[in-house]
Formats: sequence, C-alpha cells, structure tokens
Amino acid sequence: MIPHSRPSFDDRFIHAVGKVLRSAYTAEGEQSRQLEQQVLTQCNQPDAVAVDSGTSALMLAIRALQTQQTIQKVGIPAYACASLWFAVHAAGCMPVLMDCGEDLRLDVDHAWKLSPTLDAVILVHPFGMVEPLIAEAWDCPVIEDIAQAAGAIFQNQAIGSFGDISITSFYATKPWGGAYGGMVLGSHEICDTVRMMSHPDDVNLSLPYVGHHQLSNMHAALALIRLQSVNSEEKSRQQLMQWLDMTLSKSLQQSIAHRKQGNAFRYIVRIDGDVDLCLQALHAEGIDAARPVQLPLSYAGEAVLCGAKKAWGNCVSLPVLSDMSTDEYVAYAQGLSVCFP
Ligand SMILES: Cc1ncc(COP(=O)(O)O)c(C=O)c1O
Repeated sequence: MIPHSRPSFDDRFIHAVGKVLRSAYTAEGEQSRQLEQQVLTQCNQPDAVAVDSGTSALMLAIRALQTQQTIQKVGIPAYACASLWFAVHAAGCMPVLMDCGEDLRLDVDHAWKLSPTLDAVILVHPFGMVEPLIAEAWDCPVIEDIAQAAGAIFQNQAIGSFGDISITSFYATKPWGGAYGGMVLGSHEICDTVRMMSHPDDVNLSLPYVGHHQLSNMHAALALIRLQSVNSEEKSRQQLMQWLDMTLSKSLQQSIAHRKQGNAFRYIVRIDGDVDLCLQALHAEGIDAARPVQLPLSYAGEAVLCGAKKAWGNCVSLPVLSDMSTDEYVAYAQGLSVCFP
C-alpha cells in the first residue's frame, strides 16, 4: 500500500535522539530552546515558545490573548481539522465557523460578514496553500496557523510572520514534523504568558489556566533534524505533484493546487462520483487516499455551510511522499489509471 503520508527518518534522527538519551536530559531543555531559535529564524516574530502539540499551541495562544482582552467568539475555518474546534473549546471560547470557497481557502464574503462578530480569528493555510486573507486588516487579533504550510512564502514574507500570534505543529506527518510538538510565536508578552501557562511547577495561582505543555528535548531533537531536510523533501513532493498533474491531466479530475503560493503538502482532487466509493477503489489498487478532512466542523454545529459540505462530498487527498521509490511510482500510476481512466 502506498501510504497517504510517510515521514522518513534517517540516521541523523537516530543520532540526535541518541544524543538526548545519553545526556539524560530527555524533558524540556537545550533542544527545545534550539528549536525555538531555529523557527524564529524562519518567521518574523519577536519570540517563540515550544509546546507539546499544535492543539495546545492554539489553546495557549487564545488563553494568552484572554489575559489581555475579552475573547469569547473565535472564528475558525469549517473545512479544517478538528483540533481547531477542540482548542477553541478548551480555551473556554465558542468557535464561529467560516465557510470555504471552491479552492478550499476561506470564502471571502462569508469571512468578512462574520468578522465584526469575532473576538479573535484563527486563519489556517489549508493543505499547504496560503490563505490570502492573512495579509488583510482584521478588527480582531489574528492567530496564524502554519501547521500545514510551514516554510511557505507569501508576498515575499515567510508565512507565520503575518499573524498577531502564529502557531505551528511538529506532528509526525506535518512539513516540520518530528513526532509530536507545537510552537507559539508572537510578542514577548504573549510568549511569556504561554511559558507560565506551560509550567505548572512554577506555581502562579493568579493564572486562569496552567498545564504541563513543554516540548521535550526528545521531540525537539526530531523536529530540528526535520528542519534540516525540509527543503529537499519539499522538492521531492513538488516533483511528485507535477507528476500527478501530468498523470491525471487526461482524466477529468480537477486538482486543487496553488503551489506557487504554498508548499507541496497535500494533493487534493475534486471527483464527480461518490467519495467513499472512490476511496474504496483507490485502496483496492493499493493507494491509501483519504478525505482531506475527516468531518467538516459544520457537522458539529447548526450551520449548513455549502462550501464545506460540497468539499466533504467531492474532495479526495492522494498520497504525497517525499521518498517514493521507482516501484511505488509504477504502482501509483497503475492504480490511478484504473480509478481515473
Ligand atoms: C491546521 C492545523 N492546526 C493545528 C493542528 C493541531 O496540531 P497537533 O496535531 O500537533 O495537535 C492540526 C493537526 O492536524 C492542523 O492540521
């Protein structure tokens, strides 16, 4: 089976983790601080705090904002991973769902209609594409979520440099993936608050929330090595996407790819038939395709959002690996020709 994603770990990762183990400092420490510095060189933000996951990073970012102003309603994309929904709830806030357009980025009219009602907004660069609304002026604080498009450039600036606060994830399958982890980037004041909220041992009972959210040296060591490989991996994934463009060009599949403004994270096609049947057929051919999003978040609320509903009904994400072997290319081509004749 060609997996939907496959992080690869060479000897450098084994060496880096071995070094941490031999030092006996497996919890937060030197590597966690190095990762913060490394990411700060990539994103134009004043400060950074490594935390245990992207979901925690979102929750802590909202909670840190709450120490400065009232945050109740937080706008999030409806066609996005459920972590956003849970992070907003975990911060005691209410998610407000923003619909997506044809290209899976935000429906601009819907976003601007909702914006006066929001206390904060989380803007995601979905599936590796850049969300252009990040460069617009919002009346509320913007949390820029670069988890899926880390490393991409927009308007000559690294993404992650636009939001009042930015967050990323180091989850294994993400572009900057190690195993688990996340980061909050922003002002010194916000990052200091996130630091305090991530260290229950430094008792500060005046805070509304504190939890064990530090990123361990073990996890940071993996992400640090991934950052060294990220350019060559991105190049391989871009080549694979070009190959997919060519391979699928004769069938009717419409790919959603804006790689000039983003990275090669996900390859998504809109299909004409039933998504479940299409996935079954691809699996039968040894291709582990998946829905880009398990369930649109609008399913949890009362709102019927047409863009998210349509995307759920016809989008399929095809495997994009940075280390495809020649045999796998052959098997992939064969499977696609059967499923998309
Ligand atoms: C856009 C986005 N933000 C945040 C997260 C949460 O990251 P983590 O899995 O590290 O908690 C995810 C996870 O899939 C994501 O896709």
